[in-house]
Amino acid sequence: MGYYLGADLGTSALKLLLVDTNGKIIKETTKNYRVCFPNPGWSEQNPEDWWSAFVSGVKELINGIDTSQIKGIGVGGQMHGLVVLDKDDNVIRPAILWNDGRTDKETAYLNEVIGKEKLSSLTANIAFAGFTAPKILWLLNNEPENFTKINKIMLPKDYLNYKLTGIHSTDYSDASGMLLLDVKNKRWSNEMLKICSISKGQMPTLFESFEEIGTILPDIAAQLNLNANIVVVAGAGDNAAAAIGTGTVTDGKCNISLGTSGTVFVSSDKFSVDKNNALHSFCHASGSYHLMGCILSAASCNSWFCEEILGSNDYVKEQANITDDKLGSNDVFFLPYLMGERSPINDTDARGTFTGMRMDTTRADMLQAVLEGVAFAIRDNFEIVKEQGINITCSSLCGGGAKSELWQKILCNVLNVDITLLQTEQGPGYGAAMLAMVGCGEFDNVEECAAKFVKINKSITPDTKINARYETQYNKFKEIYPTLKNLFKKIK
Ligand code: XUL
Repeated sequence: MGYYLGADLGTSALKLLLVDTNGKIIKETTKNYRVCFPNPGWSEQNPEDWWSAFVSGVKELINGIDTSQIKGIGVGGQMHGLVVLDKDDNVIRPAILWNDGRTDKETAYLNEVIGKEKLSSLTANIAFAGFTAPKILWLLNNEPENFTKINKIMLPKDYLNYKLTGIHSTDYSDASGMLLLDVKNKRWSNEMLKICSISKGQMPTLFESFEEIGTILPDIAAQLNLNANIVVVAGAGDNAAAAIGTGTVTDGKCNISLGTSGTVFVSSDKFSVDKNNALHSFCHASGSYHLMGCILSAASCNSWFCEEILGSNDYVKEQANITDDKLGSNDVFFLPYLMGERSPINDTDARGTFTGMRMDTTRADMLQAVLEGVAFAIRDNFEIVKEQGINITCSSLCGGGAKSELWQKILCNVLNVDITLLQTEQGPGYGAAMLAMVGCGEFDNVEECAAKFVKINKSITPDTKINARYETQYNKFKEIYPTLKNLFKKIK
């Protein structure tokens, strides 16, 4: 029996899992860290903090474990973040994260001057503020002294893999979100590199997610109390890793994640691009492709409202008064754009808003509006998936927000699809461990591994009455952002 270590380098925490070759989670540990918001709309973390969390987390995880049984490591991580290293592989500046909105000028330059059509033909995607290419241009325009020091560019989870192996690598799923990859042909786009004033030598080597990039460096193995022959695979962007972990690996399968961000992820056997590029067209960690819509604030809206505004961290108690009869009958609406918004509106100036309160509005009504606002924003992305002719009748659900039975029910009825909850809710970390197992030859491919490991815990189906009420509510919700769009530009 071998063990595999799966890591999920999230925005609020690093989660580590030890999984055996039957798919059983033997042990897990979480190390929290903070996001730094140095300016309004900016969001940064220090890569060295990720590594410290990894080192202390691994030590905790393997305490009492026979480490000679650990065969491989896979890391899934927050996507798009810009990590820059100098010629000695030192981190030049804090990483600029996926939900950072500072690059509106660079994003507009890419979309309007280079042009969306050209970007789409080169990379299958257009520019969104959180993508990596606009951040590289931001560095060029605003921190030229840091830009000239760049020897290597990589994504967050690639930094952990670099520290483990000394190899500068990335995988196709994560690289897709840089706007530098020719997604269809799985190679760096020379033209995009030129547009961003960088060279291929500054880019990491590309791998499939389940491919081995190397083994652990001897001194790091000694530091972690692990064997140096442990294989490290390239890993994946967290959404692709979660898709593996939830068995979203065959054509047309869907996974929704309610983490710090919220995503709708549709696996696809064929490469495709939606006509307005509202959805991301990325490589999948399985070796195929996927379409994805991403909202920047999902479970983070719930934690913001409960912790910052209500001053409570008892999420269960806060939701207790929101009973079935209230679902679809709330007069309060919430726009969840606390960090601006990515899909589908692509607007860094958009902001969170409550509307519809009266003197009899309660804290529970406002919390319900927060949960519903996130579900409606997910529905906006779902509508675009449907416009592509993709018919989703069922989706798995993962991420911290998926733990709430109330939120499961709201989402199920707002989207009008069956929702499945899996026995293992640890999407990205579990998927990353599965990738490591495939890389070490335990399975021929991820599909085979998913077929063996992924098991449904429960399914929920829409309730006709609640769904009908939510249809009316969604139509009202859809009018709020267009009404406020210009105001957001003025009040920023
Ligand atoms: C996806 C995205 C987010 C992050 C969150 O495009 O930006 O889901 O990956 O970690």
